[in-house]
Amino acid sequence: MKDKLKELREIRAEALKGGGQKRVDSQHKKGKLTARERIELLLDEGSFEEIDLFVRHQSHDFDLDKQRYYTDGVITGTGKIEGRTVCVFSQDFTILGGSLAEYYAKKICKVMDLAMKIGVPVIGINDSGGARIQEGVVSLGGYADIFLRNTLSSGVIPQISAIVGPCAGGAVYSPAITDFIFMVDKVSYMFVTGPNVVKTVTHEEVTFDDLGGAKTHAIKSGVSHFTADNEVQCYQDIRKLMSYIPLNNIDSAPFREYEKEEKDLEFLNTFIPENPNKPYDVKEVIEALIDEDSFFEVHKEYAENLVVGFGRVKGRSVGIVANQPLVLAGVLDLNSSIKGARFVRFCDAFNIPLLVLEDVPGFLPGTDQEWRGVIRHGAKLLYAFCEATVPKVTVILRKAYGGAYDVMNSKHVRGDINLAWPSAEIAVMGAQGAAEIIFKKEIDAAEDKVAALKEKVDEFTDKFANPYLAAERGFIDDIIEPKDTRKKLIYYFEILENKVDTNPKKKHGNIPL
Ligand code: HXC
Repeated sequence: MKDKLKELREIRAEALKGGGQKRVDSQHKKGKLTARERIELLLDEGSFEEIDLFVRHQSHDFDLDKQRYYTDGVITGTGKIEGRTVCVFSQDFTILGGSLAEYYAKKICKVMDLAMKIGVPVIGINDSGGARIQEGVVSLGGYADIFLRNTLSSGVIPQISAIVGPCAGGAVYSPAITDFIFMVDKVSYMFVTGPNVVKTVTHEEVTFDDLGGAKTHAIKSGVSHFTADNEVQCYQDIRKLMSYIPLNNIDSAPFREYEKEEKDLEFLNTFIPENPNKPYDVKEVIEALIDEDSFFEVHKEYAENLVVGFGRVKGRSVGIVANQPLVLAGVLDLNSSIKGARFVRFCDAFNIPLLVLEDVPGFLPGTDQEWRGVIRHGAKLLYAFCEATVPKVTVILRKAYGGAYDVMNSKHVRGDINLAWPSAEIAVMGAQGAAEIIFKKEIDAAEDKVAALKEKVDEFTDKFANPYLAAERGFIDDIIEPKDTRKKLIYYFEILENKVDTNPKKKHGNIPL
């Protein structure tokens, strides 16, 4: 037995070396951590239980039989985050460049299957040269096996991807299907085709970072949801995200006791500028309404005219969707619609109530938006809100104009509680635009056109730029003093906790993609 234990310990020790000290040093020199160091940072101390350490590839081509590393280049297993179980895989770049092959893929599939059976999230740490070139089509099949699982798990268990090295070619499509992508500045890159191919095909010269670095995907493409300055922060951020979300689609989001004294929110009563065209920062409203320091913004640098993120209302996790008057006057456009729709659908799939803060002048006009499909993309956000059956509360802070009024979780699309501040203006369009259209003849005929327009704008404002006409019809449940908003939200999210609503039985809907 002694010898057998010795053998076991030797194999384990061998496996822990990964691709060897030289490659570990090279990994560190590139400013990257090893696959095991990453798992340690991600999980509660000492909680990782590895499976499939003994797996090795069975390939003999291209001298691969001389490089049969334990783990085959990906570390898999289970562990805890704040005491809650998660499944993990971490690609080991020190072993054959973390390249994916037959047994490597089988390991990832096995841990994904386990996650589905026990109903826990999968967190994938990606750092890989892509398909293992020596194993050819078998590697491609392995990717497809993972893509299928990503798709079947979608909406059942949360799937989170950290990109902490290369992630190129078809390999990008596994993270792309997952719910959240985390990237690290100057460490991660993702692209379908790299700079060399780009140069050959389109003659563009572009660096790895500009083409697919963390900032590019955070700001331009919207592919990534979170950007960290370094890897340590990346794993802390993933742990933080986990604190807002349930383990699966029948679990509830974690509740955090919140015993702090309630804040005085009197300032909200005068927060909205008198001039309806003056911007303000909706994040100040969010911070005021949710528990102290609980805001965790998603897609922070992308489509900033819509703010989305998680927060807590007296300990309860909520997903927040808020128009941002500071950017493009809070207008909805293509990118913000896509951003919002995806977030709303995540929250709905995972039982996270939605809080909507509305101040929206409508959809962005112009050929650029129309030709790029603002109709199709705007419909995504509308569809997402219509479809969502989680508790849904809207507070109209100021403008709720046109189609955007309907879209932003209006009563008509099953908003459960729709509140308005007295500053709310619920109308087909702004007073100026409306007066110019419906009183065109009178204004044109007037001697003093400027005065006539002003008179009609004032008339329209008095009549329509308020929340009372909507409230008369029950489209708004209550008009409240802004300082009381948090109190109301605490109350309503509590009573909505056991809300039950359903959609008609169907195979799946056909969201306009
Ligand atoms: C096998 C690979 C590999 C791969 C890297 N290595 N990529 N081995 N298959 N795909 C090995 C290298 O031979 C090297 O081995 C070690 O990993 C480290 O690689 P380096 O090149 O030294 O590292 P670095 O300079 O950091 O460059 C990283 C890299 C580069 C940019 C990722 O390795 C690279 O271009 N690799 C090939 C990428 C690629 O074309 N992959 C296939 C994409 S197509 P030693 O022994 O020296 O340590 C694809 C299709 C998926 O993935 C389709 C799914 C549907």
